[in-house]
Amino acid sequence: MHVYALSLEKGGCGKTALAVNIAAAFQQLGLRVLLIDLDAQASATHWLGVDSDTLQPDASVLGVLNDAMKNRVSAQSLRSRVRETAEGMHLLAAHGMMASLPAQLSSAPLGGLFLLKQAFADLAQVADTYDIVVLDLPPARGPVLAMALAAATRCLAPVQSEDLVVRALNALITSVQQIQANGVNPDLQVSIIRNKYAPRSTADRVFDQLLRDHYARQMVRSVFPIRAALRDSAAMQQSVFRYTGPDATEVRTLFLQLIEELVALDGRADAIEAK
Ligand SMILES: Nc1ncnc2c1ncn2[C@@H]1O[C@H](COP(=O)(O)OP(=O)(O)O)[C@@H](O)[C@H]1O
Ligand SMILES: [Mg+2]
Repeated sequence: MHVYALSLEKGGCGKTALAVNIAAAFQQLGLRVLLIDLDAQASATHWLGVDSDTLQPDASVLGVLNDAMKNRVSAQSLRSRVRETAEGMHLLAAHGMMASLPAQLSSAPLGGLFLLKQAFADLAQVADTYDIVVLDLPPARGPVLAMALAAATRCLAPVQSEDLVVRALNALITSVQQIQANGVNPDLQVSIIRNKYAPRSTADRVFDQLLRDHYARQMVRSVFPIRAALRDSAAMQQSVFRYTGPDATEVRTLFLQLIEELVALDGRADAIEAK
């Protein structure tokens, strides 16, 4: 089971857009995919057609984490709250009440650091478990990010050329290094994905060079330009694999190329490969 955490402490960079469509792309490969929306804004939840306003808080991520804090068996707790989306992938939805999650985790033993890691360890024991878990994160540092990084196999950071992005990226790399160094998750990997890239813009080319100078090893080859399909498919509550508007085919190809890169880095993580 591979766990990809979309993270960057800066809103609007494409964490949710990439989380939804990376999950959908893995689904296209025939893998069993679970998307967990850890952002109280519930953008990924809405994108996948679930109305978080009518959801009971207990039917969201909150229910699973509350169970985990009470030491209840996590795999079953998680599976009972997961819903199948129109895309075919499974979703553990977010809820607005998750705004209080950082405070709740902070008062839990060890800041709730191991709650998701334990839940995934339990989940991995179940026979027909998930191959891929994708975590969509809020644009913030703190206990939710730490909990996600403790449980992830690879952190994916979408970046666009903007003033605050380099700072956010440096902060994220520091968080990852802390999680690796203190033994919580020594194997955690990081990949940086350029999003909303405009090759003709001087600012974007300068930013690109800056990234290469500092993070050449972590950068993936796939680059996502600004495309209407990535914005408009959200309003249609569809991944680009279901959406049929302009640019959809091009963007689908880009996501398939990206997950090909991830498969080359991490392996396919499904039963076929294990045999
Ligand atoms: N490559 C892109 N081209 C066009 N629009 C994009 C692209 N990537 C993301 N968007 C749009 O930009 C907005 C912010 O992206 P989002 O994924 O919500 O960022 P984050 O989750 O990091 O806050 C959304 O409306 C999203 O649909
Ligand atoms: Mg988001």
